[in-house]
Order: sequence, then C-alpha cells, then structure tokens
Amino acid sequence: MRHGARTSRRESAAIERTLTAPNDRDAARAADLDARDALAPFAAEFHPARGASGRKLIYLCGHSLGLQAKSTEGYVAQELADWRRLGVLGHHQAARPWIPYHERAAPGLAALAGAAESEVVAMNSLTVNLHLMMVSFFRPQGVRSRVLIEKSAFPSDRYAIASQLEFHGLDPAEHLVEIAPRPGEHALRTEDLLACIEREGPRLALVLLPGVQYLTGQLFDLATLIAAARAAGAVAGIDLAHAIGNVPLRLHDWDADFAVWCSYKYLNAGPGAVGGCFVHERHARRRDLPRFAGWWGHCKARRFDMDPDFSPIAGAEGWQVSNPPVLSAAPLLASLEIFGRAGLGRLREKSIALTGFMQNLIETRLARTVEIITPGREAERGCQLSLRLALPQSTAKQCYERLTAAGVIGDWREPDTLRLAAVPLYNSFRDVARAVDALEQAALP
Ligand SMILES: Cc1ncc(COP(=O)(O)O)c(C=O)c1O
Repeated sequence: MRHGARTSRRESAAIERTLTAPNDRDAARAADLDARDALAPFAAEFHPARGASGRKLIYLCGHSLGLQAKSTEGYVAQELADWRRLGVLGHHQAARPWIPYHERAAPGLAALAGAAESEVVAMNSLTVNLHLMMVSFFRPQGVRSRVLIEKSAFPSDRYAIASQLEFHGLDPAEHLVEIAPRPGEHALRTEDLLACIEREGPRLALVLLPGVQYLTGQLFDLATLIAAARAAGAVAGIDLAHAIGNVPLRLHDWDADFAVWCSYKYLNAGPGAVGGCFVHERHARRRDLPRFAGWWGHCKARRFDMDPDFSPIAGAEGWQVSNPPVLSAAPLLASLEIFGRAGLGRLREKSIALTGFMQNLIETRLARTVEIITPGREAERGCQLSLRLALPQSTAKQCYERLTAAGVIGDWREPDTLRLAAVPLYNSFRDVARAVDALEQAALP
C-alpha cells in the first residue's frame, strides 16, 4: 500500500486508466447482464452524479443519499409556480393542493411498506418520528421497562432511546439492552436475538430493530423477530432507514407496532426530505395512548374549526403534528411514481443479481485484501455490501480516498468500514465491474 495522506495526480491518472481499460472478462459479463436487464432504461430517468471536472461518477452511495430523478425538478417547480401564482390560495387551488399534500404519498409508501394506506404517513424526519412513536409506544411499567436494540445501532437511534429512558427517569446503563454479534462474527444471529428476547421477556417494554443494519448491511428476519417481541409482551418498532425502497416489507402482516424511515436514501427524495411513519391499524383508534399532538393530526373535517380539544384522525395521520413540508415532499412524489412503474418485486430481483455480481467479483479478485462483512446469503441483505480491508487502518482509509479520487462514490464509516450499494433503479452491472476494477487498483500495495 502506498503511503501519504492524499492521492497523487499520478495515482489518480493510473486509476483513471484502469477505469477505461477494465478487466475484460468481467466487463464482458457485465455488458451481457446489462443487455438482458429489463430495468436498465430507468437509469436514464436519473441525473448521474458528476465530479468537479464534470465527469460522470460511479455512484454506489444510494444507501446514504439517493440520486435525483429527472422528474423531481418538475414536481418542485410546480409547487414554486403555484405558490408564486396563488399565494395562500394554493392550499386549495394548487395543481396538487397543499392541505392534503401528504396523502398523495400514502399509496406509494403503503406499497413499499406492505401496509394499508391508513397505516402510513409522510411526515417530519426519522429521529423526530422515532421520538413521537416512543411517546406513544414506549410505556415502561414496573419491571417491564427495558429497550432492546442491536449493538452499534445508528447513533441517532441510540441517543433518542437513551433520552426517552431518561425522560422516564430510567438509567440507560440498566434499561438499554444492546445485543452484539458473537465474537468474530459481524452479523447478529436470529437465534441469538430470539434467545435474548426470551431471556429479557418480562422486562422488555420495546424491541427496536433495524430492517437493514446501517453498518453491516444485514437484513433482519423481521417476521420472526416481530412475532417474538410481541409474544414476549413487548412493543415491536422498526427503523427502516436502510430498508424502505431497498427490500420488500410486509409490516401489516408481520404485525409490527410501528416503524419509521427517512426518504433520502433508497427513496431518492433528496437531502433532508420528509420522513415517514407506520402505525399498525390495531392502534388506529386508540385513545388510551399518550401522544404529542398537533393540529395536523386533528380530525380533518374540523381542523379549521379551531377546536380547543384534540380529536385525532384514525390511523397514522393522527400522529402528524404540523402541516406537510410541501417542497421537501414534492421529490418524494416524483420518486414514488418511478417506484410504482418499476415495481419493488422487479427491483429486488435486479438488486439480488447486482449485489451477487459485486460479491462474486470481490471474492474472486480481492479475497486477500477485502472481507465482506455483510451476510453472504441474499435473504440476509439488501443493496449494500460493507467491506473491511485487511490493511492497517490509516492505509485502509487511503484506499477509500483513492477509490473516491478514481470517481467511485461509496462511503466510509469509522473506524474501518467501506460501504458500497448498487441500486437497481440507476446502477448497472457495468458500474459494479468498473467499481471493482477501481477498488482493486486502490488497494494495491
Ligand atoms: C439507521 C438510521 N437511523 C436514523 C438516522 C437519522 O435520520 P434523520 O437525520 O433523518 O433523523 C439515519 C440517517 O442516516 C439512519 O441511517
């Protein structure tokens, strides 16, 4: 591995040459797979990300921020034009009236979440929604006061849970149960999670698990885990940040109590886009649950009567607090329209093939330098592969920096993990082959 904090021009040029003269055999395989890919035309519906020089990047970072669909601009422009032309009248008279704007996202979100339309709502951002859900569904009582999460959960989730515990006067050191993979393993075994749920059973108030774990890319067996959490008498909540739009979900049938997500990753709705929330219909009309209320959760027919007393809408919409952020929800509508045409079933099929192709190239060409920590079985992962480089830590990070300089965009999670995701809506098999070529060059000693 070459040393030095920054990639030199000579190195970049070398990598650039590799990118234009890829491994012939794998490039031919990729070209063949692309030629047979019925979803390939969807890539043209997205703006390719470009580097400072204007060259197209190989974008494998949809697990962090999805690319912009070309139709997005039209959706946002429509709202700007209606606001310019109509002012406040746009609430009723905009082409897509603003008062019920969030309702337009419900069919698409319901299809992706495996839910009824009344069980989903586009609102706020992920962590805010997690707090709102915990206000209603984390009800510690007596010994049933603990929250189970995975070790190395996304920090925002952990902060939110710890602060909720403290809000209830509970010490996170005692009441937050974090389950880690076995020594030497990266993924959590379902059997270990089940054993932990059983062991902690009477003490568990909430089990909060990710659909797909942000660091390892592990897809959890949600059906089994939700059933176990509920059988233990706990509430089952799911963080779908890395799962929605990535893998098929059946939240209603699985009987999850609630779920939360953001829309800027696989849903391509742009930085800071409006998030989402699922509340199972079992809870739709519950009046015994406390909630942090706001006027947008109040009975629609009487919202503008300005009642002093709150009367929640039945269903997920009843957890809304404020009026919908139209400008950040417009890109979500553009994206959901594309998902509707592509179909999550077909996207998942392509995703499995793309990720399998990446796994195969890495394992055959980079076995000595790269360890894939994401589970190898397709049922246990989505688009993302998390890689660890068998190099000293600073050198591993330089490898990531060289990869970036070579025009391949993934991301780095300290201390040692490179994440790459091939997204079926806009990535090709050729993207994958070229990225592995670049990784091979970047990892050279
Ligand atoms: C798993 C997970 N949880 C929570 C968050 C925080 O999301 P937000 O900033 O939208 O609240 C993220 C953001 O990437 C995430 O990946």
